[in-house]
Amino acid sequence: MKSHLIIGNPISHSLSPKLHNYWFKENNINGNYEKISLNKSEIENIITKIKNKEIFGMNITVPFKQAVIPFLETQSDIVSKTNSVNTIYNKNGKIHGDNTDVYGFEKSIINNNVSLEGKSVLIFGAGGVVPSIISALINLKVQKIFVSNRTFEKAESLKKKFNFIEIIDWGKTENCDLYINSTSVGLKEDDNLGLDFNNLEKKKIFYDVIYNPPKTSFLSVAEKNGHKIINGRDMFLYQAQKAFELWHNLLPDVNQKLIEYLYND
Ligand code: ATR
Repeated sequence: MKSHLIIGNPISHSLSPKLHNYWFKENNINGNYEKISLNKSEIENIITKIKNKEIFGMNITVPFKQAVIPFLETQSDIVSKTNSVNTIYNKNGKIHGDNTDVYGFEKSIINNNVSLEGKSVLIFGAGGVVPSIISALINLKVQKIFVSNRTFEKAESLKKKFNFIEIIDWGKTENCDLYINSTSVGLKEDDNLGLDFNNLEKKKIFYDVIYNPPKTSFLSVAEKNGHKIINGRDMFLYQAQKAFELWHNLLPDVNQKLIEYLYND
């Protein structure tokens, strides 16, 4: 039996076990997938188990995507670019870290039939997921990326890796084609970024990395104003699809049946 797990804190909300266990069954793989909440001091011990395949595959979520890096033996180029790891496995005998969030974000945009070539984007927030989003936006050939964060310095520090981004003050907006909420504001139903989007003249795209609730107030206000909205569900599904492929050399299906099983059960 190939063991997999996701580590994070908190982790109880994670749908990853349900998703991967579904794919194991569908693809006749003798595997199982669990979730574990742990503390930072326990990370090294658990990652070591990848070495002898006691753990076959691992996902990492908030707040450990950076904290696992010192325990890797090799890492992908995307990890070097983003400093963020969400997938670990034994690659050629080494504990190897990769990042499939970039793929997840890219696929979520492509799947929604959106072309971002030459477009401008404003990202709200500067947390752990933002380097992956910026990398994906570069792959999608956007022309301009603005970042706005409540704590200005945190946005500034993103410039060390991505010197072409422009930081704007919190509370201000720019006229862009795509607005992305990557903050945790919206996790509670009444949460609201308190930003004013009333003067947008044409149809824009609003993307919220949050997928539960499926429609944050950021998205529901945008929808009422006639803009296209995308939530974080597809990013979640496609980062998982890519992780599964890295572990098992097989790209599992993402389809309506799976989505209904995951969310309506
Ligand atoms: P991560 O672990 O991914 O880094 P995080 O640091 O908690 O997560 O990031 C959450 C993001 O939501 C940050 O950009 C945070 O802004 P700060 O850097 O100023 O903390 C943002 N955020 C959280 N609560 C917020 C609030 N009430 N208003 C505005 N931004 C908020």
